[in-house]
Amino acid sequence: MAEAPSTADAANAMWGGRFAEGPDAIMTAINASIRFDRRLYAQDIRGSRAHAAMLAATGIISDSDASAIGEGLLTVLSEIEAGAFAFSEALEDIHLNVESRLTEIVGEAGKRLHTARSRNDQVATDFRLWVREQCDAALGGIAALQRALLAQAEAGADWVMPGFTHLQVAQPVTWGHHMLAYVEMLGRDAGRFADARTRMNECPLGAAALAGTSFPIDRGMTAKALGFDRPMANSIDAVSDRDFALEFLSAAAICAMHLSRLAEELVIWSSAQFRFVRLSDRFTTGSSIMPQKRNPDAAELIRARTGRILGAAVALFTVMKGLPLAYSKDMQEDKEQVFDAADTLMLALAAMTGMVADMTADRAALERAASSGFSTATDLADWLVREAGLPFREAHHVTGALVALAEGKGCDLPDLTLEEMKSAHPAITGAVYSVLGVHNSVASRQSYGGTAPVRVREQVARWKARLA
Ligand code: ARG
Repeated sequence: MAEAPSTADAANAMWGGRFAEGPDAIMTAINASIRFDRRLYAQDIRGSRAHAAMLAATGIISDSDASAIGEGLLTVLSEIEAGAFAFSEALEDIHLNVESRLTEIVGEAGKRLHTARSRNDQVATDFRLWVREQCDAALGGIAALQRALLAQAEAGADWVMPGFTHLQVAQPVTWGHHMLAYVEMLGRDAGRFADARTRMNECPLGAAALAGTSFPIDRGMTAKALGFDRPMANSIDAVSDRDFALEFLSAAAICAMHLSRLAEELVIWSSAQFRFVRLSDRFTTGSSIMPQKRNPDAAELIRARTGRILGAAVALFTVMKGLPLAYSKDMQEDKEQVFDAADTLMLALAAMTGMVADMTADRAALERAASSGFSTATDLADWLVREAGLPFREAHHVTGALVALAEGKGCDLPDLTLEEMKSAHPAITGAVYSVLGVHNSVASRQSYGGTAPVRVREQVARWKARLA
């Protein structure tokens, strides 16, 4: 077990050479990041192992020192994973904590690890590795949710429900079509995480403090060892760039916004007034006073936490926007925002996947709602254009008159008599009734991307193949 190697009044063991006194306790409190950046321990150790191996391969340190460092870092890793590591606030951050403990374990060799390196390129590397993993996690979470939505879409490819604009009944659509709308959005979200991942996959290590190094390092070797495509080409950019984190947060914010819209729909749909869906016991809560309640808390919390993710993006943009090149300590504030946003997004994706997989749509309630609100008025207008040769604007006007008539009588369009229909326009015949049914309405919308069950089934098949 490591002892805290420095106290508040001793100068920092890692950089205190020119300091006569240690930092004030308040300085330590504002400066130290170990409370949160300990989360980067695995990436930090991985980066250091790659760096040490490269230093030996290029003859900058001896093979024996490099293997002592490599082994020692694995010991540090297992201490941390066993919960046996004493993190020290005096040692500021994860980088100094690991390096200091390494030196306790392996002695002199440990002091050679930081050759041709700075914490500036070190933290940039560690954080890129971490964010890259989160891109992969987001891609996995999104695919799982898409699969759950796809199962819903396949089961209800021909179930009719009202489609809304302005949250007013607009035209009948199919349940499958509505589910697939979210599959498409999530597909773009996945594209954004994948793009961001590709762009961030360049290695900052070897940029050192900002200018590069006079040691004959091999940046290609460390980049490759850490799974990066190549080293970053400009050392100043390498230590000052946080675009990768901002891209991750931006992709996360858009994805969270999509989840929030679906959450909002689930809240509305599961209400007693709508009854479109029933959420499962596993993803709802009860009320301690009102026994009838089944609350969609998971959906509400997904909706609410979108604000945290968006807030994280705004916070980091604000940190970065005024910073001169290259590194400034402000950038230490990148981590908590990204950690919180990533945790929030992964949990939201998982909760949404559970809710969607478990929910049951009430087919009869969907169809009843689809048939109300004059949802087939557009079908009537289209019929007048197609069968009676009216210009669309005139057909729209005639249909509007019929809607007003039905509204006045308190009935729906199909309930009007043929006489009443003809009173609005003499060209109307009994054949019009066939387009006023919701099933005919959706079946007729076969344009590419339309709501017809035949189109929905094609899209389900396309997505299933893509997600297989
Ligand atoms: N803890 C620091 C961070 O997260 C590491 C880099 C510190 N670099 C420095 N020159 N003080 O940004």
